[in-house]
Amino acid sequence: MRTVIGIALAVIAVVIAAVMVAGCAVWSSANVNTVGERQFEQELSIPPLLEPRIDGAGRKIFDLDLQQGRAELLPGTTAETWGINGPHLGPTLRAERDDRVTVKIDNALPEATTIHWHGMHLPAEADGGPHQMIEPGERWSPSWTIDQPAASLWYHPHLMGKTADHVYRGLAGMFLLDDPEASALPLPSEYGVDDIPLIIQDKRLDDDGRLDSSQSMISPIGRLGDEILVNGTHDPYVEVADRLVRLRLLNASTARIYDIGFADGREFDLIGTDGGLLEAPERISRIQLSVGERAEIVVELEAGEEAVLRSFEPELGTNAFEGRFAGADDSFDLLELRADEKLDDPPDLPAKLVAQEGPHESEANGVRRFELGNRDINGVQMDMARIDEVVEVGATEVWEVENTSGTPHNFHVHDVRFRVIDYAGEPPPAHLSGLKDTVYVPPGETVRLATAFEDYADPSIPYMFHCHILEHEDRGMMGQFVVVEPGERPAHGEPGHNHAEDHR
Ligand code: C2O
Ligand code: CU
Ligand code: CU
Repeated sequence: MRTVIGIALAVIAVVIAAVMVAGCAVWSSANVNTVGERQFEQELSIPPLLEPRIDGAGRKIFDLDLQQGRAELLPGTTAETWGINGPHLGPTLRAERDDRVTVKIDNALPEATTIHWHGMHLPAEADGGPHQMIEPGERWSPSWTIDQPAASLWYHPHLMGKTADHVYRGLAGMFLLDDPEASALPLPSEYGVDDIPLIIQDKRLDDDGRLDSSQSMISPIGRLGDEILVNGTHDPYVEVADRLVRLRLLNASTARIYDIGFADGREFDLIGTDGGLLEAPERISRIQLSVGERAEIVVELEAGEEAVLRSFEPELGTNAFEGRFAGADDSFDLLELRADEKLDDPPDLPAKLVAQEGPHESEANGVRRFELGNRDINGVQMDMARIDEVVEVGATEVWEVENTSGTPHNFHVHDVRFRVIDYAGEPPPAHLSGLKDTVYVPPGETVRLATAFEDYADPSIPYMFHCHILEHEDRGMMGQFVVVEPGERPAHGEPGHNHAEDHR
């Protein structure tokens, strides 16, 4: 008997030890760190600027072809990818305030998808959310008028359940907006030369350099990649010939959150966020970007030097365990900037940038509350047949967003730009002081936003609000709102439970 118990205990001890070893392996393999390991061997690719056609009425027409292709994500290998007007990623679209634009999108992919204009103020029927599917072989041609300040926006698929997959395969691009006030400022603005778009994405690639689409069993935010591509380039460098260089940073990943700065800790100027330029440059040394967020920064270089853009361990506000599997301990070298031996010497940055209009809390007609749960918002998951929120056109509202879970989430609202009133009980930090359309919401914290719904009433087609961590969105962490004329009801759809509470 004794020996039987002894053997059993020994077996249990061995099993516990094995589980602990395996656990440690999982724990340590969840940590990715490429700092100091990169050689910066590939020249950064710059997405081409797409020249529009101008039709007889002066409208800018852009043609986008969604297609399958092959791309060299890792040098010397081939991956099957999706792209727009090319095998991987898409061209940069560019338009000016008051331009009338039409985008003709032809879907040559084997699957239906959509293209959404992230950050764009436009009618719901042109928004490109899950209600505007483009079947294989079909064309979708939304038209609208650009009616917002200069900003760095982007476009990507936005369909039910498969947004993460379609973005991961390579469907994403930038959409830059200009306006006369911004264009008159002495800012670096030569596209791809001293004004460089950086589409930052993490990928998991197998030994043959193919995209690994397997799901993560442990990560609370979904698959995290261990390779970073910038504009689709692995291990990139870029040569620059100006003392001041503007970088338009876009986090177009599916889940990963970056805290971006320079390897040598140098400061730089933040000049713009999601919704456009700030009132004045803000001197900072780090900018954290959750999925979907953008920032425009200007960095100063010395002749002949190399400056490495790095992503440091992001502050997610989770516990250590959640954080480890959500990328909180990960760091990456992103890009090496190589300055010429002789640099052009542009004027210093202006002390003031643009005057900001924008919603203020004092103008608000009401408050709406949003609770971000584990995979739901206000206790429900996305239902295309339900309208969650009804907003009257012309209203200014406070949206109060609380992350009641222990998981990282962010919050994005279509159609509008918002101002962060307070962030986790504090006034917004510098990098959240401008106009935004996407904001990180740490576990247990509340973020209050002021936003105005100025026009485009449409009782039948909703806009979306959601967590932009794409696997969360795909699993239902999204809701719908319609903008209606005062007193109007949504045309169809079950009404949701939530109306703005009177503020005063
Ligand atoms: Cu970047 Cu709802 O979208
Ligand atoms: Cu959007
Ligand atoms: Cu989320």
